[in-house]
Amino acid sequence: MSEFLLTRTLPEDATGAALRADVLTGLTRTPKTLPPKWFYDAHGSELFERITELPEYYPTRAEREILLARGPDIAAATGARTLVELGSGSSDKTRHLLDALTGLRTYVPVDVSGSALERAGRALAAERPALSVHALVADFTDGLALPGTPGPRLVAFLGGTIGNLLPAERAAFLASLRALMSPGDALLLGTDLVKDPSVLVPAYDDAAGVTAAFNRNVLNVVNRELGADFDPGAFRHVALWDAEREWIEMRLRARTAMTVKVRALDLTVEFAAGEEVRTEVSAKFREEGVRGELAAAGLDLVHWWTDREERFALSLSTVR
Ligand code: SAH
Ligand code: AVI
Repeated sequence: MSEFLLTRTLPEDATGAALRADVLTGLTRTPKTLPPKWFYDAHGSELFERITELPEYYPTRAEREILLARGPDIAAATGARTLVELGSGSSDKTRHLLDALTGLRTYVPVDVSGSALERAGRALAAERPALSVHALVADFTDGLALPGTPGPRLVAFLGGTIGNLLPAERAAFLASLRALMSPGDALLLGTDLVKDPSVLVPAYDDAAGVTAAFNRNVLNVVNRELGADFDPGAFRHVALWDAEREWIEMRLRARTAMTVKVRALDLTVEFAAGEEVRTEVSAKFREEGVRGELAAAGLDLVHWWTDREERFALSLSTVR
């Protein structure tokens, strides 16, 4: 008998309170910023799924290639009975892992997007009668607690989403993740790799404008949730490669000077013409960097697998 359970670990209105705090901090500092987790309302999650199908956006295809090729290796190395997936979204690529992990009993998808979890979790539970699906609406950067499920556990963090955290946030996140893991558990981490900007930049500035719409969607979220009056069309989508920090930065650039009101915060925000809001960093990695960041958190990298073109890597690490 399949089972589907959805738990909200966020207290009532935690999302609203966190959004208010982030918008207040982010729009009153210089330079202005908004954290990327607010892209993902139902529309933003849909736009992200369209991004994964764009010709320019290679990470999803590259990671899928690795999952298909290495599924049996991952199963043999982990013997996982529970799969926890952070930022699971549509759980689409996860199907390859679920196929490979033959001893798996329980799947715990974790995401801030309740709509994505509902859809993906129910479909998976219906497709796989032997699997218990326990979905968790939670922020993986903020006091994540996992349900007591059978070990060994494999924690998967796919898509390169770890690159959307800043370096200090990554260190804190990995340390807190390590604290949730027991001996015998493993982490499967997807990281996009450093490559030529002629490949990287178009992946974040596609010809069809889907990434631009995804980027502007954060303004729709702030308008709807906090009664702001942003005109998303008044901002240009910008994607640039920071060669020193080895990350892509997405920004929204004001086309003209303007004043924006955020009613729920009683806040007036002035934009100069050309002023930018940083909405996302997407860090790109090298093997030694990933190994070092994992080691600093008490995790030992034991496997490093890439796609044939070496665009993306999946690493498997164990608890030291
Ligand atoms: N893993 C999928 C989806 C990646 S998109 C893939 O590889 O294609 C990033 C996902 O992480 C989205 O579903 C988003 O809602 C979720 N997310 C972003 N920040 C989060 C946070 N702080 N806590 C929980 N989920 C988060
Ligand atoms: C979810 N995350 C890994 C995506 C990325 O590539 O950084 C989000 C994204 N932003 C723009 N396009 C896709």
